Amino acid sequence: MTYLSEMKVMSKITVRDILKYKGKKKIVMITAYDYTFAKLVDQAGVDIILVGDSVGMVVHGYRSTLPVNMDMMLLHVSSVARAEPRALVIGDMPFLSYETSVEDAVRNAGLLVKNGAEAVKIEGGEEVVDIVKALVRAGIPVMGHIGLTPQRYLVIGGYRKRGKKRNEIEKIINDAKQLEKAGVFAIVIEFTAADVAKTITEELSIPTICIGSGPYCDGQVLVLHDLLGLSEQTPPFAKKYTDLRNIIINAVQQYIKDVREGRFPSRNHYFLSEEK
Ligand code: KIV
Repeated sequence: MTYLSEMKVMSKITVRDILKYKGKKKIVMITAYDYTFAKLVDQAGVDIILVGDSVGMVVHGYRSTLPVNMDMMLLHVSSVARAEPRALVIGDMPFLSYETSVEDAVRNAGLLVKNGAEAVKIEGGEEVVDIVKALVRAGIPVMGHIGLTPQRYLVIGGYRKRGKKRNEIEKIINDAKQLEKAGVFAIVIEFTAADVAKTITEELSIPTICIGSGPYCDGQVLVLHDLLGLSEQTPPFAKKYTDLRNIIINAVQQYIKDVREGRFPSRNHYFLSEEK
């Protein structure tokens, strides 16, 4: 059996599987925003594909995630879903698609699900508990996101480390507990002190997924463009596994040179009228 056919017979990953992985195997989540990359990361074997609102920054060139709207998310979620990945597909709820009212939250989360998301992620702690409850009641699985919440960078005062001061630590731990009680199936903990993330991981019965919050969580998430070396700027906690920027620039420069110097197209790239 080839690697690809083996992946096909392995069954689809569900929210229930992610819950069962806690304490048994590390959960690997990565962002992807379109069909091609969803196919690739799924073939590599990730557990969760997050169609993150980071799409606004890494694909659309915005300086923050605040300009991302539902239309953009629906376009990218449906593109990823068409790859029919084995991995669980999570759609991020963009800024102001859920904070305005519980009704807006349910309607917008429902649209993400109708377009292929199998769960949604929302940022915030205690303040989004009512929204989480309403979404779960409507049949939509929810992933929480605490610590550094980029949609709130204006009130936080930038993309700052979280969980260094006593009151902040207490709030983050309380947020995690409230979210679990409200019904989230997992929580992303971003740019938070590793010992705080460890405490949360030990105290919750649902999985925690870290980004910039150390090794003690139940899983890790990275933004695909950071990992591939496509981003112009990366956060300090990202790890670059390859340098696709240079690989792409070199390939395109090679193409430019070939065209200018008459090496492309070569004889196998075109046909003549008398040929069969
Ligand atoms: O939008 C995103 O990519 C995210 C991850 C950084 C967790 O929320």
